[in-house]
Amino acid sequence: MSANTAIRAGILGATGAVGQKFIELLEGHPWFTVSAIAASERSAGKRYSEAANWIGSGAIPKTVAAMTVERCTPDLDCDFVFSGLDSSVAGEVEGAFADAGYPVISNARNHRMAASVPLLIPEVNPEHTALIEKQARAGEGYIVTNPNCSTVGLVCALKPLHDAFGVDKVIVSTMQALSGAGYPGVASLDIEGNVIPYIGGEEDKLVTEPRKLLGRLDGSEIEPAEIVVSAHCNRVSVRDGHMECVSVGLAQKATLAQVAASFRSYCSPVTGMGLPTCPPSLVELLDGDADPQPRRFVERNGGMTVWVGRLRECEVLDFKFVALVHNTVRGAAGGAILNAELLVKQGYLNARKAHIA
Ligand SMILES: NC(=O)c1ccc[n+]([C@@H]2O[C@H](COP(=O)([O-])OP(=O)(O)OC[C@H]3O[C@@H](n4cnc5c(N)ncnc54)[C@H](OP(=O)(O)O)[C@@H]3O)[C@@H](O)[C@H]2O)c1
Repeated sequence: MSANTAIRAGILGATGAVGQKFIELLEGHPWFTVSAIAASERSAGKRYSEAANWIGSGAIPKTVAAMTVERCTPDLDCDFVFSGLDSSVAGEVEGAFADAGYPVISNARNHRMAASVPLLIPEVNPEHTALIEKQARAGEGYIVTNPNCSTVGLVCALKPLHDAFGVDKVIVSTMQALSGAGYPGVASLDIEGNVIPYIGGEEDKLVTEPRKLLGRLDGSEIEPAEIVVSAHCNRVSVRDGHMECVSVGLAQKATLAQVAASFRSYCSPVTGMGLPTCPPSLVELLDGDADPQPRRFVERNGGMTVWVGRLRECEVLDFKFVALVHNTVRGAAGGAILNAELLVKQGYLNARKAHIA
């Protein structure tokens, strides 16, 4: 795709933690260019560099720094939108954009479990995009979502096991990074030297979303996977990277060596499709006694690989391990960009000749 045919992306919630990650990751993207940015009334009308409290380690890309933040109304000059909107407004705003003919690639929870909305991880369930056909909207508008950031780490780690042996029970305890709470997030006096054993709504998402993601497309419906998940979610004082201690029960008997081999040999259905944001491996199994650690692994492979370590037999279920996912990259903006790339390849997303008036 040449620069002349770049597909123009708008970013809803461009000033937030996820919105900023979109801007960082889309800089120099071979297919997409940022043509519009929008956020709340607080930010609208300001230059992006004034409106956003930039938390990235690099500078704000020059082209975006000078752009004016717009309101989140469905008249943005772009071919589709990424959404990093707060869930208090995402449901309504994303619906309005889709109704107005915009493809919406969302990070928010609001539409994830709707029967006609794909909940998508390209390497896990690319065929679920067929649900788009069920969204009765005028024009080319639709909504595609990516899962909760902890769900992404869990499901990417479960996928090789589920394909090889069937997963039927999961117990997961998370240690979730501060950037997962958005900006400004958790007050420093609450989290410094502390662990908070509660993240509102998070445990429910870990229980329900894996069933849809690992479910089977049956005609135009998803038949949920029969997996029971018990989740404990904790906020810890780490900047980026959610760690998850996972125990799994398998439907078929397997040895430790077979489980390790399933992680190492997993080949995703989108391998070889040439998606620019697709990492060399969805999951990498590590041998080090004390791996993975956020500081050492979270940025590797562009933040798009899920790192698995400490694989061993479990005294209660069958096997246990630790997984690490970059919450704002694989768990949010990077995952959404990869979703958009898959939609391009599948013919659902393109540069529209006539822009919405
Ligand atoms: N952080 C993560 O790791 C992560 C991972 C996966 C999914 N998510 C989901 O992604 C979404 C964004 O998360 P975040 O962490 O980036 O949150 P955040 O830092 O709080 O950013 C929220 C964004 O929403 C905008 N916004 C708030 N109220 C609005 C309104 N009334 N109208 C229009 N825009 C409004 C904000 O604009 P202003 O700056 O102008 O207020 C800001 O751009 C959430 O739905 C979250 O659950 C987050």
